[in-house]
Amino acid sequence: MMTKPRAKDPPTPAVMFSLITGRFVSHLIDVAARLELADLLKDGPRTVEDLAMAAEVQAPALYRVLRALASVGIFAETKGKRFKLTPLAATLQKGASMRGVALFCGLPSLSDAWAQLLHGVQTGETPFLKVHGMSHFEYLEKHPEEASIFNETMTNVSSTEIPAIAATYKFSRIRTLVDLGGGHGSLLATILQANPKLKGVLFDQPSVIASAKQDRHVTKGIAERCTLEAGSFFEAVTKGADAYMMKSVLHDWDEEQCTKILANCRAAMSENGKILVIESIIVPGNKPDRGKLRDIQMLVTTGGRERTKEEFATLFRRSGFKLTRVVPTKCPLSIVEGIRA
Ligand SMILES: C[S@@+](CC[C@H](N)C(=O)[O-])C[C@H]1O[C@@H](n2cnc3c(N)ncnc32)[C@H](O)[C@@H]1O
Repeated sequence: MMTKPRAKDPPTPAVMFSLITGRFVSHLIDVAARLELADLLKDGPRTVEDLAMAAEVQAPALYRVLRALASVGIFAETKGKRFKLTPLAATLQKGASMRGVALFCGLPSLSDAWAQLLHGVQTGETPFLKVHGMSHFEYLEKHPEEASIFNETMTNVSSTEIPAIAATYKFSRIRTLVDLGGGHGSLLATILQANPKLKGVLFDQPSVIASAKQDRHVTKGIAERCTLEAGSFFEAVTKGADAYMMKSVLHDWDEEQCTKILANCRAAMSENGKILVIESIIVPGNKPDRGKLRDIQMLVTTGGRERTKEEFATLFRRSGFKLTRVVPTKCPLSIVEGIRA
């Protein structure tokens, strides 16, 4: 049944207009991130001419961009065409939580793939593959600059999720934890820091492991308990551990590929080993749900998908596992636990 708008709600076409033009806002955020405007304002308000000079762009156009961003709460205009940071704008600063996400979502390689969403819906083909002729991860291996933005994005997104995951699950019961597709290792490092007896293995593709070695996460205070291993989880994974964790990994792959990864975990794990799959769980209903939007990002880029609890149970069964429980966390992700069936 359709819900009727309440008297104080904006008119329906106005709501729709805002949704449609959300695309304009995304483009404006991309420009702000690429010009590093939030960093240029870190010491206080600046005039638009001053900002334009620092960013080497045209002041009149920059003024219109900043004015439009300020109209949605990103930066604020003060007297004399000066602009200052707002809490939303501050998330775009270097080292802050959304800079990588903004840069990644603005990459032409990604927006060109999104432009083929209709083609993906019509044919079932993965838009990224159609546009670039290779999978998203192959593309990243060949484009190190974009890979570094992607890795920053994953670390950024993860930073908003890690505390909730590390606080929810009793990792202290595990002796060796492998983080498959662990990226630069920020989740594993947080878990190791909180559990002094735990040993960890960060497992990812060679190029990612090489850049993780330069990164601070897996070296700070826990280096002696953390091994870094390069490989492909489609071939084989670290042997003999008692838990295999995958965060935002299975959503990149289709059922057959996920079954292969899980079967490799099953073959490698100790007798009472566990798998811990950390993903969005798709639930019925029409509430706002970030997982349902991430699902479309997967449709466009990797050919993967977000899954329901039942879909995970089926996937686990096909790979020789039994889903034991789904542990919700205070972030949008849940921990899906499985043991050998
Ligand atoms: C979406 S990212 C998730 C990163 C990290 N777990 C997080 O949540 O921030 C997926 C990860 O899987 C890794 N990956 C992709 N293909 C892989 C493969 N064949 N073997 C191992 N890792 C792979 C990527 O390099 C990437 O780090």
